[in-house]
Amino acid sequence: MNDLFTVTFVCLGNICRSPMAEAVFSRIIEECGVAPSFKVNSFGTSDCEEDNPVYPPVQKVLKERGYSFAHRARKITLSDVKNADYILVMDGMNLTDLTRMTGGNYSDKIFLLGHFLPEKIDIDDPWYTRDFVRTYDEIYRACNAFLDFLFKEHAQAFGYDQRH
Ligand code: 4NP
Repeated sequence: MNDLFTVTFVCLGNICRSPMAEAVFSRIIEECGVAPSFKVNSFGTSDCEEDNPVYPPVQKVLKERGYSFAHRARKITLSDVKNADYILVMDGMNLTDLTRMTGGNYSDKIFLLGHFLPEKIDIDDPWYTRDFVRTYDEIYRACNAFLDFLFKEHAQAFGYDQRH
């Protein structure tokens, strides 16, 4: 692995959770001054929303918090998996689908985003829960925890732990 990290967020439709995580993580690394060390993207395990924009209630939560983003839904491909250093899925179903798609390969770089939180949760689909703010809060905390993990894991690449 070189010092440019490709971080890929994955959910089912790529219109709610993973584009939200892409926007949130992108802003966190910007604020920490480490954005040049990252490429960040997001995809769905399904093409059910292919080319659709971010779901309007998710857009609302993000815009209220000052995020700007331009995104169209894409289904993940095998080359997207190969190009990623870290793949963060939102729930157990995403993990099962991605594992099936990749034949069980690449499992060393696939993580549940919510497992970076002490409570080790799935990031539930707000398409069903309708609680978009809760999803944002979980994703925000988990993305921060994931970056802390990266700073510890790659302390040398980052020179030092940027936040401590
Ligand atoms: P996401 O949410 O996986 O967080 O983007 C969903 C979006 C669309 C659908 C399901 C979940 N859908 O069934 O179309």
